[in-house]
Amino acid sequence: MFKTKRFWVSNFGFRASNLQGFKIMGLWYSVSAILLLTFLVVIGIEGMGLVSFFTIFIPYAALFLFVVGFLYRVLKWATSPVPFHIPTVSGQQRSLSWIKADNIDSPYTTGGVVKRLALDILLFRPLLKNEKVEMQAPQRLLFKPSVLLWFGAMAFHWSFLVILLRHLRFFLEPVPSTIVILQRVDSIFQGLIPVIYITDIIILVALGYLFVRRIIYPQVRYISLSSDYFVLLLILGIVLSGVLMRLIYKVDLVQVKEWAMAMLRLRPVAPKEVNLLFYIHLFFISLLVAYFPLSKLMHMPGIFLSPTRNLTNTSRNQRHINPWDYPVKTHTYEEYEEEFRDSMKEVGLPIEKG
Ligand code: HEM
Repeated sequence: MFKTKRFWVSNFGFRASNLQGFKIMGLWYSVSAILLLTFLVVIGIEGMGLVSFFTIFIPYAALFLFVVGFLYRVLKWATSPVPFHIPTVSGQQRSLSWIKADNIDSPYTTGGVVKRLALDILLFRPLLKNEKVEMQAPQRLLFKPSVLLWFGAMAFHWSFLVILLRHLRFFLEPVPSTIVILQRVDSIFQGLIPVIYITDIIILVALGYLFVRRIIYPQVRYISLSSDYFVLLLILGIVLSGVLMRLIYKVDLVQVKEWAMAMLRLRPVAPKEVNLLFYIHLFFISLLVAYFPLSKLMHMPGIFLSPTRNLTNTSRNQRHINPWDYPVKTHTYEEYEEEFRDSMKEVGLPIEKG
């Protein structure tokens, strides 16, 4: 019901109309921020010649912030007390032997937890449960799985991973054969469309969908923050600059590889005369890396530390005791009845004794 446009307009019309303008401002802030950052690189490289700053200082600083921020947040989560047993489940819990239990949606063994996490992480299974609710004819509520969002998320994350793995060719010498094979498979249509990788097309379409969906669906737009648009635009900037380097404005890949290897050996040397697009690509990547621990991109490590996902559901087989439980002064029913028996009798309330 909440997802129908009519319901939205009639019930949230006042708030939505007040906030629509504000919400869409987040998009414009992000677009302006991306344009400003691109402009910064152009001025920095072309106008001020700050090549070492953009190719050595910024990437190292970003990596430092990433490692420190990532460790800080993960350690903070890891040391947070989890006194309660709170797995989220959507299947039958194990109880009596004749009731069929579901060891994936309500895992009762560590193996079940591992299977559920693997399905969540590799196949994004929870997104299939992100149901669209629609009000069809009066009083007819329909629940439909949101397959498009699942598909978009799968396409985006998997192509991102393949692109990252292919990039290892810049950092490893010799390039492992698995990376070479991956690259060949990814460029299987090379004869048809010169040089563009399949994953490049998929990621562009997926990013386009994930971005447009935040704008065209009023409900999603309502809950979208500037940071949601910003991260999508930043990744879009990285991908577009990469694809442009690949297809139109070629860069000297030998220079790039020499720079990458020197950075890894901690004997950095700035690349000479590479295309401006490479500096934009690298600056956006550095921003993404530095921003990662501060952003909701931390859902990536977070899922492993989430007590709602990594605990077994054994609350009927085992007693889970809060380690900090302290003796609480209680007043049992028997004591209560003892105290008020006469008054209870008087007003005709049922009593257990006497
Ligand atoms: C978040 C990480 C990154 C993403 C998402 C990304 C994305 C992309 C994409 C989509 C392309 C188009 C061609 C292809 O798919 O290979 C590309 C090309 C390129 N990227 Fe990246 N990239 C990343 C990190 C890096 C890093 C760290 C470097 C530094 C060595 C780099 C250097 C390049 C270069 C030189 C090209 C042109 C490749 C060619 O002409 O074959 N990228 N990038």
